[in-house]
Amino acid sequence: MRVVRLQDVGTRLAIAWMAIALGSCTPKGVVYEPIPASSDYPLPESTIAGYVTAGDVVSMRRHAWQVFGAMVQPSRANPRLPLWETWYGKSEVKGNATCLEDTDRGAGGWKRDPGPDPQLAEVRAEAIVRARALGLEDSAVFDPLEIVRYNREACLFIKRNQLMQETVLSEWYGKGVRDIAALEGPADNRMVVVKTSWISINDGERKILSIWDGKPAVKGATSQSLKIHNDDRNDDGLRHVCVSTSRARCLDVAKAAWVPTDAFYHYRSGGSVNILVGLHIATREQSDWVWATFWWHDRRESKPYGSDRPQMVRYPWNNYLMNVAYDMDFPVEPDGGPHIAFNPWLEGFQADGLTSNCMACHRRASWSPNGETCFAFAGQDGDVNHTARIDVVVRGREAATGTYFNEPFEERLKLAFLWSLRPPPPAGFEDCRNGATPDGRAQPDANTLPKLHPK
Ligand code: HEC
Repeated sequence: MRVVRLQDVGTRLAIAWMAIALGSCTPKGVVYEPIPASSDYPLPESTIAGYVTAGDVVSMRRHAWQVFGAMVQPSRANPRLPLWETWYGKSEVKGNATCLEDTDRGAGGWKRDPGPDPQLAEVRAEAIVRARALGLEDSAVFDPLEIVRYNREACLFIKRNQLMQETVLSEWYGKGVRDIAALEGPADNRMVVVKTSWISINDGERKILSIWDGKPAVKGATSQSLKIHNDDRNDDGLRHVCVSTSRARCLDVAKAAWVPTDAFYHYRSGGSVNILVGLHIATREQSDWVWATFWWHDRRESKPYGSDRPQMVRYPWNNYLMNVAYDMDFPVEPDGGPHIAFNPWLEGFQADGLTSNCMACHRRASWSPNGETCFAFAGQDGDVNHTARIDVVVRGREAATGTYFNEPFEERLKLAFLWSLRPPPPAGFEDCRNGATPDGRAQPDANTLPKLHPK
């Protein structure tokens, strides 16, 4: 069965790429397309649990590649778009979409670029506060364009329960609900959510990007910012590539090889090309979801994150490396500590990002009407009973349910691991950027960040 399906995928890819190469393909629109049902997805929860118990990383990784390979195949209505791009965006889920449309949403609801997101703006603003405290330039903080997409089942779950409406969350909270996962019967295990991260390169320009080779520039560091500059300064101690549509733009760069924008999945937007550097996937195949992350790399066969990629993943998607998290703790790392899985572009720059695990942070996805707190850097004074860290990067199951909020974790409304459901921060949050917390306490010195990953 698997062989037949892979051949089918291969044929569709070949036809689509040919059509694009010949220029004969006019984009038609955006018609929802699901991951084809197969023996690979969705896997029964018991199979997933079996992988975790056995520490079977080979199967975990094989499964993540299969799901990825299926999601990046060209959609039928518009072969320029991989399947996942036809899924619902935040504005549609929040807006009038029924999540059941089988029509072209390209002209209406579907938007590629959702525009500024207040929640992400907050994360970045706080990262800048921290970067400045560490003597770094603002540009050292990754400023990606981030786009979240929900497949039909995920969109329906959110829609049915009106989970993107703060008033509804507030009502549930008032009724004593502390976990939105409890609102329905058994969850639909076909739910998939994707988060993508892009860098924009203006026409005629270039971007020099750092390459993550698994080691921070400073030995023992627990975070690493990746550089996205126009200039040729090799100031972060990492390897670099120079990305541009034309080689000519990179000729003067001594130590960074030219990489065409085509080597990334990309799209044109006005006078620029947006290249995909990172992609996160979460599937609801187990109650804590299955997490996989993909990042662009110039050495596609690198071990261990690129050497087992199946053939079905075609260019440019085969330029992405991958890691998985099926559990907050297991399999443990060589240091004996809880499992690590992060994306160098998306989490690497955060405090303790290099020891983070998707699930541990997403387990903490929660909200409370009792006043929210600064997103990441408020209250980092080690006073764990009073501190106000929502987006804290922790390591391991135990730490994930600890409280770094201004109230016990159990009292918050858990958002089924989906951070994107958290309502935007209330007015006054801008103060976080200026070093104050909403409750008026001074923001602590970023250099005194406590270590929050107990072994
Ligand atoms: C430090 C906390 C943190 C870590 C670690 C983290 N994320 Fe997230 N993630 C977030 C936040 C916050 C959002 C919400 C972004 C938004 O609303 O657009 C998010 C959004 C997402 C989404 C979109 C769906 C949603 O509502 O959450 C996916 C999928 C996702 N992350 C996957 C991953 C994967 C895979 C990893 C590990 C490689 C990971 N995340 C690591 C905080 C984190």
